[in-house]
Amino acid sequence: MSTILLTGATGAVSSAVIQALQGAGHRLIGLVRDPAKAAHLGIELRTGDLSYLRTIETAFEGVDTAWVLTPPGPNAPIQSSNAVWAARLGGVKHVVRMSAIGAAHDAPNLNSRLHALSDSELVGSGMTYTIVQPHFFMQNLMMAAQSIAEQGTIYFALGDAKIPMIDVRDIASTVAAILANPAPHAGKTYTLTGPAAVTMAQVAAAIGEALGKPVTYVPVPVAAAVDSFTKMGLDDYNQVALRDYLTSYSRGWKSDVTSSVKDITGTQARGIGEFARVYFK
Ligand SMILES: NC(=O)c1ccc[n+]([C@@H]2O[C@H](COP(=O)([O-])OP(=O)(O)OC[C@H]3O[C@@H](n4cnc5c(N)ncnc54)[C@H](OP(=O)(O)O)[C@@H]3O)[C@@H](O)[C@H]2O)c1
Repeated sequence: MSTILLTGATGAVSSAVIQALQGAGHRLIGLVRDPAKAAHLGIELRTGDLSYLRTIETAFEGVDTAWVLTPPGPNAPIQSSNAVWAARLGGVKHVVRMSAIGAAHDAPNLNSRLHALSDSELVGSGMTYTIVQPHFFMQNLMMAAQSIAEQGTIYFALGDAKIPMIDVRDIASTVAAILANPAPHAGKTYTLTGPAAVTMAQVAAAIGEALGKPVTYVPVPVAAAVDSFTKMGLDDYNQVALRDYLTSYSRGWKSDVTSSVKDITGTQARGIGEFARVYFK
């Protein structure tokens, strides 16, 4: 059994990873900014802020395997750099990093280019690593929950794009399997997708079936979508990130399905129907 430290412990992905690892006999340590916010996780906690190296320089001591997840934003590269450096200082044996679909220096969107910087830094660090690059989270669809409930409509700026979206629970079980036994995954980068590429019309049909009432997809122009989020206070970085994601997906970017979840966990990733039946019942 090993000692595993997880960053982003209070967030969507890492909290699900913690849940997937609990009870398997590992010593789990959450690295958090505010321990009070993380008390419900029921694991050992260390305090630090990824943006400030001095607050995390000793946080990785005694850790075998580290899970490095940074929140999306312009500071992600420095936060990831700090975490990887602190992991080195602490003598960590293997770093597993949360990246994103299509991370590359020439990717057509900002978030993927920033993730590529951090992926490259980890690969070049000389540390043993594994990188996961998940696709669009199915849980992102919950931002349409209100219009679905009130109008039976999903407004999204994805045209008729086919997206192999993935349930966060499948990202978590895959990451947990890697953290529990990292050696076979050393030096690997995995693209994680759901079992099928689906259009938003298919998403609407699946949610409608789960709810037992018709749900319609209404495509909106990318500029209109970004405009409405801007009016709700979306900052400049996220306006650009959102615009570029919606544009690239609408043009068919990254629609291939991979078998990585099944290959690593032995279990098929959940499809959109299964997601909808749990989240929209
Ligand atoms: N959404 C998608 O479709 C998608 C797809 C592929 C990849 N991704 C990637 O997934 C990652 C986000 O994962 P998520 O959805 O689980 O994130 P999340 O729910 O927003 O959680 C972010 C976590 O980071 C912590 N955090 C924020 N600032 C911090 C700091 N300065 N120092 C230490 N911890 C800090 C937060 O803790 P506090 O409690 O302190 O705030 C929280 O635990 C991003 O890298 C994103 O690019 C997303």
